[in-house]
Amino acid sequence: MPIRRLPPEAVNRIAAGEVIERPAAAVKELVENALDAGARRIAVRVERGGLGLISIEDDGGGIPPDELSLAVERHATSKLTASAGGDVDLLNIHTMGFRGEALPSIGAVARVSITSKARGVNETWSIEVEGGQLHPVRPAAWAALSESGTRVEVRDLFFATPARLKFMKSERAEMMAVSDVVKRLAMARPDVAFSLEHDSRTSLRLPAEADPQNEGRRARLAAILGADFAPNCIALDQTRDTVRLSGFAGLPTFHRGTREHQHLFVNGRPVKDKLIVGAVRAAYQDLLARDRHPVAALFLDLPPDEVDVNVHPAKTEVRFRDASLVRGLIVGGISHALASAGHRASTTTAQSALGAARAYEAPQPFLRPSGAQAWAVAEERVAAGDFMMPSGRVEEADRHLPAGIEPRDLEEIAGMMPAVQVSDEDARFFPLGAARAQIHETYIVAQTEDGIVIVDQHAAHERLVYERMKQMLANGGVRRQVLLIPEVVELDPSEAEAIAARAEELAQLGLVIEPFGPGAILVRETPALLGHVDAAGMLKDLADDIAELGEAHALKERLEEVCSSMACRGSVRAGRRLTADEMNSLLRQMEATPFSGQCNHGRPTYVELKLADIEKLFGRR
Ligand SMILES: Nc1ncnc2c1ncn2[C@@H]1O[C@H](COP(=O)(O)OP(=O)(O)OP(=O)(O)O)[C@@H](O)[C@H]1O
Ligand SMILES: [Mg+2]
Repeated sequence: MPIRRLPPEAVNRIAAGEVIERPAAAVKELVENALDAGARRIAVRVERGGLGLISIEDDGGGIPPDELSLAVERHATSKLTASAGGDVDLLNIHTMGFRGEALPSIGAVARVSITSKARGVNETWSIEVEGGQLHPVRPAAWAALSESGTRVEVRDLFFATPARLKFMKSERAEMMAVSDVVKRLAMARPDVAFSLEHDSRTSLRLPAEADPQNEGRRARLAAILGADFAPNCIALDQTRDTVRLSGFAGLPTFHRGTREHQHLFVNGRPVKDKLIVGAVRAAYQDLLARDRHPVAALFLDLPPDEVDVNVHPAKTEVRFRDASLVRGLIVGGISHALASAGHRASTTTAQSALGAARAYEAPQPFLRPSGAQAWAVAEERVAAGDFMMPSGRVEEADRHLPAGIEPRDLEEIAGMMPAVQVSDEDARFFPLGAARAQIHETYIVAQTEDGIVIVDQHAAHERLVYERMKQMLANGGVRRQVLLIPEVVELDPSEAEAIAARAEELAQLGLVIEPFGPGAILVRETPALLGHVDAAGMLKDLADDIAELGEAHALKERLEEVCSSMACRGSVRAGRRLTADEMNSLLRQMEATPFSGQCNHGRPTYVELKLADIEKLFGRR
C-alpha cells in the first residue's frame, strides 16, 4: 500500500486513545483545565460512571468566544508561548496542561459541549463537537458560577470508538476511578473548593481552605483520607538545594495491603512515579514486610526546569534532572521523620486491641516526664557501658546461624543488654513503664503512669538487634571473606568503569573489587554477612543503581536484608523466661532506640492501653 496521510479525525481518535483511556482520564483533563484557568470552585457531576455524562463547572477565567473553536483544535493551547524563532520552552511548565490535546481528544470520541463566559465579555457562548465534527460557536444561556467561568459537558464518551467502549469496566469501577482522580487533584489544591456528584448523589464536598500550606493541607487530607490519617502520620518538611519535600509519612505500623494509599505530587501534579515509589519503599524497607505498604502524602516542589513532565501521555510520570538528589531527599526525609517518632506505634493498634472507638489523640513523641531524673540515671548507666548478658542467648542463636556468620558476631551484636536498674517507683515515669510480669513466656506486661503496656519480647528484641547491626554496618564494621578463586565479571565497559570508580565505597561495605581490563571487574572479597554471593548478579544490580541513581543501593539493601533475617534468628525467642532486670532493660532500650515501635515486618512490638480505656472495658466509665 502507498503511504498516505491519515484524515484528521483518525489522527484525533488515535491520540484520544492515548490520552483518554477511560472516563476518569477525561475528568482529570477537565479538572486540570479548570485549575489552569484559576478556578476557586470546581463542581464535577458524573452519570453512569462517566459513560453517560461528565460535567465540570468552574469559576475560572473562561474562554473568549473567538477562541472557543481553537480550544477544541489539536495542538492549540494558551499555555505555551513560542519564541520568535518558533521554539517553545517545554522545560519551564507552570500549568497542568501544555499540549493542547485534551479537549480535541475528548471531542474526537464523545459529544462535547463547552459553555463559557470569559472575564470581561458580557455574553455567554458555547460550542459543540461530536465525534470530531465541530458545530459553529453560538450564544448560550447559562448562569456562570461567578463573573466568569466554564462548563464542559461530555456525553456518550467513546460512542465514536465502540471498540474502546468494550474495554470499560463496570460503572461502579469507572466511578471509583473518577472519584480517585478528583480526590488526588483536590489533595494537591486545598485552596480550591471541590464537589463531586454521581447519579445525583453528592459523594464529595470539600470547602476551600484558607491556609493551603499547613493547617489547610492537613484538613484537606483528613477530609479525603479519613480521621485515622493525621494521628498516624508524621509531618515532614525538608529542603535540599532547590527541592522541597513536604507532607506526611505514615507510621510503619499503619501499613496497608496496597500502594494505593501513597499519594505523590510533583509541583502539585499527582504522579505515579517509579523513582518516588522506589524511594518510599527504600525508606520503609526494613520497617515493613515485603507485601505491606506505607501510607503517605508527599509533595515535592522544585523549579519547573528541573523536572520533565512531558514523558507520559497522561502526564502521570515525570523525570527528574537530578534523580539521586530527589531519591536521597525522600529516603532521608522520611527516615528522619520516622526516627523522630521514636518507638511510637500507630493509634490503630491499641484501638483494634480494644475494639472500642474512642476519640483520636495525636500521639506525642516521648517527652521527659516528671521522672526526668530517672531518665538521666538510665542514660548514664547505658553510657557507662553497664552491660549484662542474658543467659542462654548464644546457644540459642547458634543453631540458626546463616553461612558466614560466627557465633561471636552475634554475641557482639545481640548480646549486650544494658542492665539498667531503675526503681519501680521511678520506672513508672518511663514511657514503657516498669515490667510487672511475663506471661506465656512471650509477653512482658509493664505498668506505666496511666496504663499498661504489653510488649512482644521477640519482636521487640529483634528490632533492637537489627538497629544495632545497622549501626555496625554504618560504621564500616562489615567483615569480608576472601574468595579462594577471585571471580571475573564481564560488564559493559561503561558499567565496569562506573563500578571501579566506587571501589573504595564498596570496600567499606565489604565488597573488594578491581578493574580487570575494559569491561571486566575482578571480585576478590565479598561481605561475610552475605554468605555465598552471586558476584555477577550483584555487580549488575550495582551497575544499574549507579547508572540510575548515582549510588550503590543494591549492596546496602542486601546487607540490611540479611541483618534483618539474622536479627530475627538471633533474638530472644518467644517462650524464653526473662528476669525482671532483663525485662526492664529491654523496655529501656526500646525507649532509646529509633523505630522500636515495630518489628522488621511492620508488626507492632508493643500495645499500650490507657487506664481510661481499661475502665471503659469494665464499664466503670
Ligand atoms: N475550563 C477552562 N477554562 C478556561 N480555559 C480553558 C478551559 N478548558 C480549556 N481551556 C482553554 O482551552 C485550551 C485547550 O485545552 P486543552 O485541555 O485541550 O489543552 P491544554 O490544557 O492547553 O493542554 P493539555 O492537552 O496538556 O491539557 C487551553 O489551553 C485553554 O486555553
Ligand atoms: Mg488541558
